[in-house]
Amino acid sequence: MKGSRPSSLKLDCYIRQQARRTLTTSFRNLLRPTIVVSSRNHSLTPSFRDSLAYPTGFDYIIPLVLYLQARFSKSLYTSSITKPDQEYNVTISNSGKMVQVAFLGLGNMGQGMIHNLSAKGNLDSPLIIWNRSTKKSEAFAAGKNITVAPSIEDAVSKSDIIFSCVSNDDAITGVYDIALKIPGGVKGKVFSECSTIHPDTTRQLEKVTKAAGAEFVASPVFGAPAAAAAGALIFVTSGSKAAIDTIRPYLVGVMGRQVIDLSDDPDVGKALTLKITGNTIILGMVEALSEGHVLAEKSGLGTENFEKFIAALFGQSPYLPYSKRLTTGDYVREQPLFAVDLAAKDARHALSLAKTSGTTLPVTEIAAKHLASVKEEMGVSGDITSIYGILREAAGLPFIDKK
Ligand SMILES: NC(=O)c1ccc[n+]([C@@H]2O[C@H](COP(=O)([O-])OP(=O)(O)OC[C@H]3O[C@@H](n4cnc5c(N)ncnc54)[C@H](OP(=O)(O)O)[C@@H]3O)[C@@H](O)[C@H]2O)c1
Repeated sequence: MKGSRPSSLKLDCYIRQQARRTLTTSFRNLLRPTIVVSSRNHSLTPSFRDSLAYPTGFDYIIPLVLYLQARFSKSLYTSSITKPDQEYNVTISNSGKMVQVAFLGLGNMGQGMIHNLSAKGNLDSPLIIWNRSTKKSEAFAAGKNITVAPSIEDAVSKSDIIFSCVSNDDAITGVYDIALKIPGGVKGKVFSECSTIHPDTTRQLEKVTKAAGAEFVASPVFGAPAAAAAGALIFVTSGSKAAIDTIRPYLVGVMGRQVIDLSDDPDVGKALTLKITGNTIILGMVEALSEGHVLAEKSGLGTENFEKFIAALFGQSPYLPYSKRLTTGDYVREQPLFAVDLAAKDARHALSLAKTSGTTLPVTEIAAKHLASVKEEMGVSGDITSIYGILREAAGLPFIDKK
């Protein structure tokens, strides 16, 4: 079938891969090909064209169906079609221009996400980033395919899709206050919000975003900064299916490894309810690991032996890397990886959700107390893992393990 596609399709469609290297094999082997349709004339590059050997008539017809679907859709962005083993997405800009992506927030999480988005996102133009401290953005962007925006207004006004990941509810509310009031408005833009915030805050953000004529996708993420750097985050998406399809090409294979999709649930807050509930597991894990390592040391078993068990039973889970953060002394650091303030905020949100839902979270209550002690001892440089130091002290051991 190679070379026999209609010329209009050849001009208007091009296939964009989340894993370019697989393009050199065959179309049949591609796991999640993403077809991006834009109304500008974009001919296939030779390497793309040569690899497009559609194995069946059905595969051949998919780009055409998507193209027509996108072309006649009223929404700015559309659409996806799924076969059992392959998923195709279409992004189309009804203004006929290229799709511009922006990312707001260059924290521990944002750094990894931005790196992967700019390096693997197959972007039409350099990623635009904004961070409260502009100097940080400039240092980070040097030598990369990234443009630093001097203001939120500048980043949002130039972009069609706007990702954000900042510390907490107040921070993101402040960002949206500015973003949604830019001159010219935000009609037709898609906002994807990745911070961990209270579900009610997310509901409010969705309300004001939609009132301003834009689409909103709640997209909190699971995974430590190392997972963000490795492009291995798990996204939880909630919002309209069309809006989620718009951001989908930038998730799995770019910034993440999996999406837990709650699309078309009328309550976008559920994505955050899942995120907050999930973080009670992380808090419980750090508590349990800290207690276990303290007991291992006090009982004479030794933390090395306890870690052998962690590796054997939980080797493929976050337990092992978190255990290693304790045994290597990485629970005391100048720049926290999961800042105590953020962990305390997550615990607070979980306890508040539990209260309004008529239940209790005893483990999270204990973790919240330990986090308060961490903050007292270490200030803002405290990390979620510093709970280990608090438990060590409670057992008569020094906060810092000198080994
Ligand atoms: N760290 C983790 O393991 C982890 C995992 C999953 C999800 N999360 C969630 O992801 C979000 C970001 O976490 P992180 O670890 O990247 O945090 P972080 O390293 O502390 O970075 C926070 C980011 O928010 C910005 N910020 C803070 N206050 C602001 C304000 N008032 N207005 C605008 N921007 C503001 C900071 O800007 P400056 O650089 O100017 O300070 C920075 O870019 C949080 O909601 C967190 O709960 C974290």
